[in-house]
Amino acid sequence: MEIIFENVSLSFPDKTIFSSLNINLSPGKIIQVVGENGSGKSTFLNLAAHLIRPTSGKVMAFCGKKELNGEAYRKKIAMLSPNMQLYDNLTAKENLKFFSKLRGESLDCNEIAKLWERVGLREENVRHKYAGKLSTGMSQRVKFAVFLAAKADVWILDEPSANLDDKGRSMIIKETKKATQNGALALWATNDERERNAADEIIDLSNIDRVS
Ligand SMILES: Nc1ncnc2c1ncn2[C@@H]1O[C@H](COP(=O)(O)OP(=O)(O)OP(=O)(O)O)[C@@H](O)[C@H]1O
Ligand SMILES: [Mg+2]
Repeated sequence: MEIIFENVSLSFPDKTIFSSLNINLSPGKIIQVVGENGSGKSTFLNLAAHLIRPTSGKVMAFCGKKELNGEAYRKKIAMLSPNMQLYDNLTAKENLKFFSKLRGESLDCNEIAKLWERVGLREENVRHKYAGKLSTGMSQRVKFAVFLAAKADVWILDEPSANLDDKGRSMIIKETKKATQNGALALWATNDERERNAADEIIDLSNIDRVS
């Protein structure tokens, strides 16, 4: 998958965030979006995910020469964002199964066990805890398991290591690298230095032209 920003401008009523932005995001790479708080990192990710539309210009997604839109595109992407909420009254495992079902997939016991292993949730009792009773770092790991279960071609990660310890951060970097080596496109928003070292490309929003 390739994502192309063509002459993208985006203004909120009180502020212009992007003006005539032209960027190509190629598969097989980790692309890191950096910039100070409020510079537009999450907005950039939301545009790439087609969650919001630009005021003018286009954000296009191509699979080879075929342009994908709507449901066909949504099936290709997974997003990990601070806005994602687990259901407090479902256990970690129930949340994982529920969100996968929403994407039309049924996870079997083996797949679930592998996902817990990959995100480092090794203790059986944690998997059966209500999400509302998990620590924030554990909850972030469950969200990442939901994310991984999508087996997406486009990884969109907003502050993926928020609330994670060093092992958790390394796990996210390792998984993202592996996915891009297998051809995925990963786009992550973070100002973290360790993630910056793992990135193949950096898009710095601190210094972009915002004059429309
Ligand atoms: N739906 C919206 N309506 C109006 N303004 C918005 C909306 N979403 C974002 N903004 C504004 O756009 C700007 C960019 O916000 P965004 O969340 O993309 O920044 P960010 O770089 O992700 O910041 P942070 O580092 O704090 O996560 C901010 O000034 C924000 O207030
Ligand atoms: Mg943000």
